[in-house]
Amino acid sequence: MKAIFFVLFFCVLQASINCWTGIVKYNATITPRNAYCFTESNSIGALRRGEEKRISGLCAIAVCLNNRDISLLGCGVVQVEPPCYVADGDLSKPYPDCCFEIICPQDND
Ligand SMILES: *[C@@H]1O[C@H](CO)[C@@H](O)[C@H](O)[C@H]1NC(C)=O
Repeated sequence: MKAIFFVLFFCVLQASINCWTGIVKYNATITPRNAYCFTESNSIGALRRGEEKRISGLCAIAVCLNNRDISLLGCGVVQVEPPCYVADGDLSKPYPDCCFEIICPQDND
């Protein structure tokens, strides 16, 4: 319960939009002795307690929680008024700036 609250709170902090989240449960069988959190999925690998790691190829991060679960945070849904539109983000930017870009054609910028 505490962990879920933490994730929701973190989500709100990271972006003023809704964001998808996921939890990878701690698995003692696969976690190396020197790692606090570990998962094989998305080449995340080992994380230190409290460490954040960008998931390569995705606009998302993995966070090693205090209970050794890993929280996955991705991009949310955003709505804009026409003529503005939402374009795909740039994966070379850090999270959460990589999520999307809001483009308004009539702006002179
Ligand atoms: C932990 O990982 C092992 C090896 O992949 C797997 O067999 C086991 O079912 C996992 N345990 C849990 C609780 O998911």
